Amino acid sequence: MVTIDGPGGSGKGTVSQLLAARLAWHYLDSGALYRAVGLAARERGVSFEDGAALARLAAAADVRFEPQADGQPARVWLDGRDISEILRTEETGCLASRVAQVAAVRGALLGKQRDFRRLPGLVTDGRDMGTTVFPDAVLKVFLTASPEVRAERRYKQLKEKGLDVTISGLLGEIRERDARDAARQASPLRPAADAEMFDTSGLDIVQVVEHIYRQLQQRL
Ligand code: C5P
Repeated sequence: MVTIDGPGGSGKGTVSQLLAARLAWHYLDSGALYRAVGLAARERGVSFEDGAALARLAAAADVRFEPQADGQPARVWLDGRDISEILRTEETGCLASRVAQVAAVRGALLGKQRDFRRLPGLVTDGRDMGTTVFPDAVLKVFLTASPEVRAERRYKQLKEKGLDVTISGLLGEIRERDARDAARQASPLRPAADAEMFDTSGLDIVQVVEHIYRQLQQRL
C-alpha cells in the first residue's frame, strides 16, 4: 500500500497512476468519490448545509471505475451514468471540497475507500490517505508545488480536455480550495507525521515516480 497525498495540481494523480502501472498494482483516485458526491448533491438539490442528507447520499452513491487501456484515466460511473467529463471540471472540484468538509460524508466514504485495498497492492491518492484512511501504508508520500505551478498544470490538463479556463481564474479557485481543505476540522489536508515530502515544482513527473519507486523497493 502506497499513499500519495497533496493539494490539487501537485502531480499526485499522474504520479500515482504511473506508479501503479509500473508496479502492476491497483489504483484508487479518492478525490473522484468526493467529486461524485458533490455532483450528486447539486443535481439532486441536496443542501450543502444538510450534513445528514449529504452523508446518506455518500453512503448510497454507487461509484465505479472503469480502467482504460494506454494509460488513459479510468472512466467513472455514478449510479450507472458515465460522469467522466464533468467530474474533472474545477467547478466539480469546488463542490467536492464543500461536501468533503462534512465529517459524516467522510465517514460514509471511509469503508468504500478501504474496500479498494486488494492484492498485489494499492496506490491511492487524495488528501488524507496517509493520515486517516490507510495509516498503516508501507510508504506515505506528500507532494506539494507552488500555487502558480499547480494552476499551470491544471490549465494544461483542462485545456487538453477542451475546457474554457484561465490561469488567473484557476489560481483563485485553487487557493480557495486549498484554504478550505487545510482549515476543515475533519481530516484536514496535512502530511502524515511519517510521510516523505516532495516539492514537485521544478521536477519532471517521471523523475518523481522513479524516486518513489526506489524508496518503495527499499521497504518491501
Ligand atoms: O483530488 P481532487 O482534486 O479530485 O479532490 C477534490 C476535492 O475532494 C478536494 O479539494 C478535497 O476537498 C476532497 N478530497 C478530500 N479527501 C480526499 C480526496 C479529495 O477531502 N482523500
